Amino acid sequence: MRLGINIDHVATIRNARGGNQPSPVKAAEIAANAGADGITAHLREDRRHISDIDIKALKESIELPLNLEIAPTDEMLSIALEARPERVCLVPEKRLEITTEGGLDIKNIEDKKKYFIQKIIKECTNSNIDVSLFIDPNLDQINAAIEIGTNIIELHTGEYCNSVNTIKELDRINKAAKYATDNNIETHAGHGLNFDNVIDIAKISYIKELNIGHFLIGESIFMGLEGAVKKMRNIIDDCK
Ligand code: PXP
Repeated sequence: MRLGINIDHVATIRNARGGNQPSPVKAAEIAANAGADGITAHLREDRRHISDIDIKALKESIELPLNLEIAPTDEMLSIALEARPERVCLVPEKRLEITTEGGLDIKNIEDKKKYFIQKIIKECTNSNIDVSLFIDPNLDQINAAIEIGTNIIELHTGEYCNSVNTIKELDRINKAAKYATDNNIETHAGHGLNFDNVIDIAKISYIKELNIGHFLIGESIFMGLEGAVKKMRNIIDDCK
């Protein structure tokens, strides 16, 4: 199972004061040395953490694959085509949300938006950029994602992480990951994962990649980023 480290909140801390410290590129390098398989960064429309310059600097400096999270908009598509990350992950974005609150509602999407997502998939694929769709662990959403033409999805684990009935939520994720895999869709997962709740998710062999950010950046205050990433890496590896 690959581990992608989301470094958005290194930029959040930097932006609290302005200036250049702490550096998302340095965080990506430390994460790489600690066993990460990829770096994830979300360029939000309001640029509240990661900036356009960060994306350029990450692409130029890091050796690991870059997973660029973007909302499906014209502006973000042209940034992605220019930046050439290894992968684009399409996420829904609401301006006032604190974090990505749910997956893309591909099932109920209007035709115009659906065609636009198909255009993103086509143009990115032509530029050798993989495209994944961030969706809720729901079979209808997976069917809609298949229909739209993706071959990678990321399952939103937020409800599982916040739920008191984790068994029910875990079952939903397990069934969704199996269903997607059976339909030749590579399955990733992420959002809200920490050292404890990652264990049951990492045991789901259908999931090929986890993307984890906020908890690890917070924990690195206490144990260092290298220590936090290594610990997460070990927990995930022990679940094999
Ligand atoms: N995956 C996606 C698609 C996300 O939008 C986010 C949050 O930016 C994450 C994973 C990581 O979530 P967290 O920061 O809660 O670990």
